[in-house]
Amino acid sequence: MTPQEFPLLKISDLNFSYGNTKVLESINFEMNYGHISCILGPSGSGKSTLFNLITALLHFDAGSIKIDNLELSSIPEELVRTKYIGIIFQKFELYPHMNVLDNVISSIWHVTQDYEKNKQLATGILKNMGIHEHINKLPDELSGGQKQRVGIARALINSPKLIVADEPTSNLDTDTSEKIMEILGGLKSKEHGIIYSTHNLNNARYADNVFILKDGKLNEIEEERLIKSSHFSDLY
Ligand SMILES: Nc1ncnc2c1ncn2[C@@H]1O[C@H](COP(=O)(O)OP(=O)(O)OP(=O)(O)O)[C@@H](O)[C@H]1O
Ligand SMILES: [Mg+2]
Repeated sequence: MTPQEFPLLKISDLNFSYGNTKVLESINFEMNYGHISCILGPSGSGKSTLFNLITALLHFDAGSIKIDNLELSSIPEELVRTKYIGIIFQKFELYPHMNVLDNVISSIWHVTQDYEKNKQLATGILKNMGIHEHINKLPDELSGGQKQRVGIARALINSPKLIVADEPTSNLDTDTSEKIMEILGGLKSKEHGIIYSTHNLNNARYADNVFILKDGKLNEIEEERLIKSSHFSDLY
């Protein structure tokens, strides 16, 4: 069987609490290769917690998270971050003392130390992101939108199966945010899936399926309801 016969991401009966504070309660979710999913939800509803569990930065209390039919906890940590999951961060999280090229290469370095090959790969991705000419600059010399393009390139360099982005545009102005969402939407491919969260209802339109996380529960929103809502608060 090829991996594509399984859902790319399958979350079953997931529960998570911080001490006595229950954050996620019986979360069930499934997405396939080639799909883009968006998670909406009020501040404090647990979006980042859910994303941290999917990326194995946090460990859950009960339930299951499977990627490609493999229990996340059974995948060696270094493979989770390379082969399985590429993370795009809200605050970019670039290494301040590394130039753009080396920031992108930093995430493939654990897989292969062939610098010339890595450089070629990174340069190609940066070209696709439209920031090829900034390759030797330090993060401080870039705009927010440019930093996030570097962040996306770094997430892509290992060709991960799942691309995870928790509020990837919340530190950007409206126009730049739109451009970054266009890039994310343009990454739709049968080779991987993308899951992102946002507070901006406008950003939800890049997804095939939109979900709301509220009161610990995750529910899909029908397209009709989404279209009728002018602001995310209409949905909460
Ligand atoms: N390290 C922590 N220790 C204890 N409680 C936490 C911790 N991190 C988050 N929480 C609590 O867990 C809940 C979910 O937080 P989370 O950051 O996942 O929400 P969010 O939906 O991402 O919010 P936002 O939209 O503001 O980013 C909140 O009640 C928060 O106070
Ligand atoms: Mg958050």
